[in-house]
Amino acid sequence: MCGIVGYIGEKRAHPVLLNSLGKLEYRGYDSCGIAVSAGGIEVYKDAVRVKALEKALSPLEGMIGIGHTRWATHGEPSKVNAHPHCDCTGRIAVVHNGIINNFQRLREQLASEGHILSSHTDTEVIPHLIEKYYDGDLEKAVELALRDIEGSYAIIVLMADEPKLVAARKDSPLIIGIGDRENFIASDVPAILDYTSRVIYLEDGDMAVITADNIEVKRDGAEVTREEHKILWSVKDAQKGGYEHFMLKEIHEQPKVIRDTLAEYISAAEPAADLAVAGGSGLEDMLILACGTSYHAALIGKYIIEGLVKIPVRVELASEFNYSGQASARNKAIVITQSGETADALKAIKRLKKEGCQVIAITNVVGSTASRIADQTVYTRAGPEMSVAATKSFVAQLIALYWLALPYSRVDVRRLDDLVMELRQLPVKVQRVLDNEAAILDCARQLSEFENVFYIGRGINYPIALEGALKLKEISYIHAEGYAAGELKHGPFALLGSGMPVVAIVAQDNTYEAMLTTLKEIKARQSPVLALVGEGDGNVEGLADWVITVPQVDPMFSSVVNAVVLQLLAYHVAKQRGCPIDFPRNLAKSVTVE
Ligand code: F6R
Repeated sequence: MCGIVGYIGEKRAHPVLLNSLGKLEYRGYDSCGIAVSAGGIEVYKDAVRVKALEKALSPLEGMIGIGHTRWATHGEPSKVNAHPHCDCTGRIAVVHNGIINNFQRLREQLASEGHILSSHTDTEVIPHLIEKYYDGDLEKAVELALRDIEGSYAIIVLMADEPKLVAARKDSPLIIGIGDRENFIASDVPAILDYTSRVIYLEDGDMAVITADNIEVKRDGAEVTREEHKILWSVKDAQKGGYEHFMLKEIHEQPKVIRDTLAEYISAAEPAADLAVAGGSGLEDMLILACGTSYHAALIGKYIIEGLVKIPVRVELASEFNYSGQASARNKAIVITQSGETADALKAIKRLKKEGCQVIAITNVVGSTASRIADQTVYTRAGPEMSVAATKSFVAQLIALYWLALPYSRVDVRRLDDLVMELRQLPVKVQRVLDNEAAILDCARQLSEFENVFYIGRGINYPIALEGALKLKEISYIHAEGYAAGELKHGPFALLGSGMPVVAIVAQDNTYEAMLTTLKEIKARQSPVLALVGEGDGNVEGLADWVITVPQVDPMFSSVVNAVVLQLLAYHVAKQRGCPIDFPRNLAKSVTVE
């Protein structure tokens, strides 16, 4: 959730740390801080964004340092709760991403031993534990401190007069960037892309000791080898490229994302993943788990797989599955997670595997934890998604689901050929949605005047109604609810009226007639209606106050074009309302806590 960075090399550390932290702000942005070693340790931190911290800083000399950008869990965003945290002597500084479950007991114990802790964070116990165990050997002290800790962590430790950084991870991501007489540590790839594309992914339980020209990875005290990887993302991928916001850039990248993701799958000789259960009697059923926007992709996956492969599919929120859901070795499970680091999704994968279930991860991040713990991984090729609100990664997930299902499809050959052809045409159709942005902006101006909105859809577009509502609420702060259109009359009708607009997805499939009936019922109750309708559909005009036309596509793919319309709609509503689109309040991109 939080972003952490470390630098050691021949440059002044603080500009590198601030630049890297700026690239990690999507992981949390309620406060930030850096610590640099130049003789003693100098710490600068506050409950501000990285740019503001940068303005307040005078140049620092040290060439070793650590930094942190925070998404508060323990203690409100404030200067004292911001990282880095130090021990009593001020000689040991730590940045941490994760949660320490037994921090209360550790705090009490440390306090009884004379340590003075000043913040409300769980993290502050770490530098004090290191101080307690330090007898001249920093690595040993970190190792002993971590033995006391229950929970998840990625940490970087900096100590005065020690020309090295010590890092460790358990259930929180951490990578090492390899440079030329300099090395980097970070939660995530975008932080180091400006400096290097050579990385090592640390594994759970690893501890690394990093100097300017050496990287040593250890596990239980013994040295281990971790393979070096080359990052394929470019610096440009992680920049705004002339767009006002990352979100708008990412929405506009979607034709390319679909092309790139498809090109990779098409060029592979094998299906994207083996859906059949080993030793089973073919493909019998499927379980799909995910959170947030990825969960909406999972719900669409149910329509795709049930429609094409003709097997029952169960979809559950990963967070709820972790409390009650049932799986068996006979299930094949797909876990969808853009970041590959969502705590609830990772917990679900671990549980599924324990129960003998084979897990396919769909993720956008090479080397992510999900990709390393799942049995198979299907990568989406969306490139780095910097805006907190997921857009292009969602569409790429849908493409992955189509491609997973197609080789196992039980529809006839002609229909299959048509579907593959239509899938290849999708980038052109999505481009046509983007070309219609001015019309979507007009509707956004209308919608931005309201404080509540219903989104409705049926069939494969029901999850798109959920996703449209989620996009609107997270970036514009308008209260929005997604509903299956048929459910509206079972209670929510009580809220209809001139102050409650309804965004209706009118798909030209087997739900069409029922949707027209729903629109008539809504109009009879005076709610303004914004309808998404297929080109050439003249039946809806009289039933809607505003209409956005979408290109004709095979009903199996209508969710993709409608999703892009609703992303643009949410974006422009949020812009009308002057919201901080890429960094919505209280949110972070990668939710690494339960
Ligand atoms: C919403 C959004 C979140 C994520 C959710 C799961 O725009 O981005 O709802 O979809 O936190 O994240 P991943 O896919 O990384 O597991």
